[in-house]
Amino acid sequence: MPPRPYVVLSCATSADGYLDDASPQRLILSGPADLDRVDEVRAGCDAILVGAQTVRQDNPRLLIRDPRRSARRAARGLPAHPARVTLTATGDLDPQARFFAPGALRLVYCATPALGRARARLGDSAVLIDAGDPLSLDFMLTDLAERSMARVLVEGGAQVLGEFLTRDLADELTLAVAPFFVAAPAAPRLNLPASAPAPASAPAPAPASAPALAANPDPVANPDSPASPMTLAEVSRVGEVGLLRYLLGPGGPEHRYLRWAVELSRLCPPSDSAFSVGAVIVGEDGEVLATGFSREQEDHDHAEEVALRKLAAGKRGPADPRLRHATLYSSLVPCGARASRPLTCVQHIVAAGIPRVVFAWREPPLFTDGEGAEQLRAADVAVTEVPELAGRARAINAHLVGSGA
Ligand SMILES: NC(=O)c1ccc[n+]([C@@H]2O[C@H](COP(=O)([O-])OP(=O)(O)OC[C@H]3O[C@@H](n4cnc5c(N)ncnc54)[C@H](OP(=O)(O)O)[C@@H]3O)[C@@H](O)[C@H]2O)c1
Repeated sequence: MPPRPYVVLSCATSADGYLDDASPQRLILSGPADLDRVDEVRAGCDAILVGAQTVRQDNPRLLIRDPRRSARRAARGLPAHPARVTLTATGDLDPQARFFAPGALRLVYCATPALGRARARLGDSAVLIDAGDPLSLDFMLTDLAERSMARVLVEGGAQVLGEFLTRDLADELTLAVAPFFVAAPAAPRLNLPASAPAPASAPAPAPASAPALAANPDPVANPDSPASPMTLAEVSRVGEVGLLRYLLGPGGPEHRYLRWAVELSRLCPPSDSAFSVGAVIVGEDGEVLATGFSREQEDHDHAEEVALRKLAAGKRGPADPRLRHATLYSSLVPCGARASRPLTCVQHIVAAGIPRVVFAWREPPLFTDGEGAEQLRAADVAVTEVPELAGRARAINAHLVGSGA
């Protein structure tokens, strides 16, 4: 069974947190630069999911706009556009909606009681899937994984985003914050359950290096509360929009950075003679210093090497002092032997002075002896292995090592 897809939630909000205004017309919250950013994000996904109300109300196309991005997907053997996915309890969908236009696979997850109605309305304009009574998001994600949808972008609306957040089913949340207010209490905002009253002395937010948090024990409570905040991974400006990217999901910051590193490995140009690996370097204060993935810049690149090279090219140069207190997260243990270049990743890490490495998957003895963890420890680098995430890292390399355990 493939792991559930990596789920990215994405929405644009006003500065006071609204996803729309209360008028019948759709409020445009993003500018051209942000729409182009979303287009790039879409191009990196296997499926785009929106709620049935967004299909009815906004009638989105859910296509990649830039033909060069579609062409790049096609060159990698992918469909030109990601699949379009929606979910419904009523089956009340119009086959004339743009969602059902040709050009991309259409999947409709429907609660069992509404299947007949949905089938009668939609005919063969979409693949209709019985998702249980009540509709099960877990079933939907498992089914998407079985259909080779490894990365799913959830673009709204308020109810669907709220459900993914509340049920702790998302790995990232991207908020594009527009530079204006909406101030319309009837307009939609992220639909989260009301918080329980805060305890008299709420615990301080966990630092980036905090120990792993348990998975949300109560799926109806908001897991990303002040006591267990999301992990801020990016703050940037895109045109007039402020972009905030958070990492979410169980395991706290440690597992979130590592899941992201694993996810980055999906971006690697394919190779029959080298692993696909992702790496993230995080400073002491939780700031993401650099990311990298195998073959990102040159043919023989290793992920850790690329991330360190990017940092060395920055204004602080190769001896960036932040590295002395940083943690390097890698989907695969850093290499301790290498044929393609003179320096191993272990040597790069030790030379950079990075004191701590966290990895998911111990290298099988396919290309080298895989003793990177022991070499790092011998060089006084603290090493943490997170075997719970090894299956994800391995699945991305199934073409090299098979899909078995
Ligand atoms: N700013 C942004 O980035 C952004 C993005 C998208 C949308 N929006 C806005 O968000 C608003 C729409 O949001 P919304 O909350 O009203 O609707 P929504 O989340 O788009 O869709 C809700 C509908 O999805 C189906 N659904 C959701 N969860 C389900 C479950 N667990 N089981 C079965 N069906 C389920 C139901 O469809 P049925 O009713 O068919 O049963 C439900 O009514 C619009 O104003 C839109 O413009 C904003």
